[in-house]
Parts: sequence; C-alpha cells; structure tokens
Amino acid sequence: MIISDWMMPEMDGIELCRKIRASGKKTYSYIMLLTAKDKTSDLVEVFEAGADDYIIKPFKPDELRSRINTGERIVKLESEHHELQQKLIRNNKKLDQALENLKATQSQILQSEKMASIGQLSAGVAHEINNPIGFIGSNLDALSDYMKDLDTLMGHHRKLSRVLEKSGPENLSDEVKNQIKTITECEKDIEIDYLMEDIPELLNDCKDGTKRVGRIVGDLKSFAHPGNDKQMLFDINKGLESTLNVVNNEIKYKATVTRDLGEIPLVEGFPQKLNQVFMNILVNAAQAIEEKGEIKIQTRKEGKDVKIFISDTGCGIKKENLSKIFDPFFTTKEIGKGTGLGMNIAYNIIKDHKGKIDVKSVPGKGTTFEITLPGK
Ligand SMILES: Nc1ncnc2c1ncn2[C@@H]1O[C@H](COP(=O)(O)OP(=O)(O)O)[C@@H](O)[C@H]1O
Ligand SMILES: [Mg+2]
Repeated sequence: MIISDWMMPEMDGIELCRKIRASGKKTYSYIMLLTAKDKTSDLVEVFEAGADDYIIKPFKPDELRSRINTGERIVKLESEHHELQQKLIRNNKKLDQALENLKATQSQILQSEKMASIGQLSAGVAHEINNPIGFIGSNLDALSDYMKDLDTLMGHHRKLSRVLEKSGPENLSDEVKNQIKTITECEKDIEIDYLMEDIPELLNDCKDGTKRVGRIVGDLKSFAHPGNDKQMLFDINKGLESTLNVVNNEIKYKATVTRDLGEIPLVEGFPQKLNQVFMNILVNAAQAIEEKGEIKIQTRKEGKDVKIFISDTGCGIKKENLSKIFDPFFTTKEIGKGTGLGMNIAYNIIKDHKGKIDVKSVPGKGTTFEITLPGK
C-alpha cells in the first residue's frame, strides 16, 4: 500500500500513480493520495490517474486507520482475483493440451483404420501373387538345369562339325558340306558364344527378381497376418544363427559378419516371428552397406533381460528419419526394392513380446539396433 502526498517536488502524486499503473506489476499496489485540495475536479483527477483513495488534509488518525483497513481488504480481494485468473489461464492451457491430444489420437485411429484396410488388401494381393511366383521360381530352376543339358549337347554338336571340317572337304558329300556351312553361319548370326554365356546370367537375374518379389509378398503377408507359429521357450542365439543361414545369400557379398553371442536366458515367444525381426534388421543392414562393410551381432544378459545388438557400417539414418523408420510404409528405398514394412513388423513383434526396440545411427558411419526382451 502506497500512501503519498499529492504535491511534491520533481514528481507529484498524480504522476507517481500513472507510473505505477503503467509499470504493469503483477501484484496490486493500493494507492492513497494525501492532499489539501478538495474540489470535485481534483477528486476526478486523482481517480483517473489510477489512485484508489484519497484523504483531505488535515485528517484524524482514526479516519486514516479505517481507510487503510478498507485498502487492505481491497488488496486481498485483488490478489485473490489475480490467483483465480492465473488458475483459469492454467486450466485453459491444460484444456488446449487435452484437445491437441484428442486430435492426435483421433488421427491415429483414422490412420490405423486405414492401415488395417490397406493390410487386408495387401494380404489378398500377396496371396494371389504367392502362387504364380512359386511356379515361376521352380520353373526357372528347371530351365537352368535344362539349359546346362542343352549347353552340353550343343558342345557335342559343335565338336562334330569341327571334326568333320577337319577331315578334309574331299571326304565329305556336298550335303554334309552345305550343312556344316549352314551351322557355321547360323552360329555367327546368333552370336552363339555370347548367347551361351548370357542365358545363365539372365536366368540368374530372373531368379533373384523372383526371390525379391517373394520376400515382398512375405513381408506383406506377415504384415497382415500374425502367422501360425507357436509360443515356446526360445534360444535367441540359435535363432540368430539360423536366420543368418537364411539371409547369408543376401549379405555375404556385402558384409563380413562377426558374432559375439553371450550366455543368455531363454525367451518365451514365437520363434518364427522373432527370426523375422532378426531377418528384417539383417537385410536392412546389408542393404545399407554400399560396397563392403561389417555387421556385428551381439547378445548379452542384463538383469533378467536379454539384449540383442545388431550393428552395421552402412549409410546410417538421417536424424529426421529416425522417428519414422518404424512407421508402416516408410521407406527411403526405390520403388520395388523397399516396402517400408520390415521395421514396422519388427516393432510390432517386439512389442507383442513385451520387449523394446531402439535404434541409434550416425549418418555415414552406421546403425545399431538394440532389442530388449524379457528373459525366462
Ligand atoms: N540398418 C539400416 N541402415 C540405414 N537405414 C536403415 C537401416 N534399417 C532401416 N533403415 C531405414 O528405415 C527404412 C525402413 O526400413 P524397412 O521398414 O525395413 O523398409 P524397407 O527396407 O523396405 O525400406 C529404410 O528404407 C531405411 O531408410
Ligand atoms: Mg527392410
């Protein structure tokens, strides 16, 4: 509470009032001016400047005391009012936050409904593709075998024409000579040497492509269906080894694999699904390596948990993508190579096993996935 004279040198009471009100202080200052002026116009000026009360001199101590009491009451009310206002502001902020959360949840629900229907659709398509891709694959294998046989036979035929040629034209009938000529010309026309070299390569490319389609189809299927594998006690180290066998073809040209498998407890879970997680991570690791690199697999017991670390010396993940890699359909790979489902499947499987999957990455250096699973 400020009790001040009106008439003062340098700054009078009215200016003091204005300055205090303009200062925007949070706690309320009650201002009372003392003055000998007593005209109505003076009174108006005092209140317009922002004072709360004034006392005309001379005054009795009792009057000042009771006016101070009134002032105290008003200051108290003012501060209560201020607190209430603050509370209101805080509540409003909370409400805004809740509204934001609600909106986020709503868009998540919409998103997951969309995902579910895309999942169903994909599973249907995957199912349809599965069959033809199966026979294309086995036909390609058969074709490769037949090609080898044909290649052998071709070799015999060509040898025969060389032998006949060498035996001298005088020993050959015109018909044979003509036939040899036709064969030699045809061989030149079709560039037989190049052909015999290229056919197996083309067949191999086709086989690779088929495998890739097969994997995409597999990803899509396990994305939509939980699969039919049974829950059991599972040795993670063994799972990692057998998964490495399966994906060996994918990674052997890209990376040397080092294993550092510790003594770890068994884990309760679905073996196929967990192997799928390792496979998705390993395939990504190999794909992240451009020329030649390293993949390191480490397992450890930590308290009751099992920790699995899979690191690569690949291209790494940009900071802005780190939070997205577990989103379904997020991929940085070209169309046809990536489905963006691998990490989402891995995330969901680990979540279903009450575990955790984390990723650390340094762009240009490499990436480490860390999986934690509860041990038995
Ligand atoms: N080991 C890794 N190194 C670099 N990037 C990775 C690695 N693992 C995952 N990623 C990034 O996460 C994305 C999503 O991975 P994933 O869900 O398996 O889909 P996809 O492999 O089909 O693209 C990849 O496109 C890639 O950008
Ligand atoms: Mg992948």
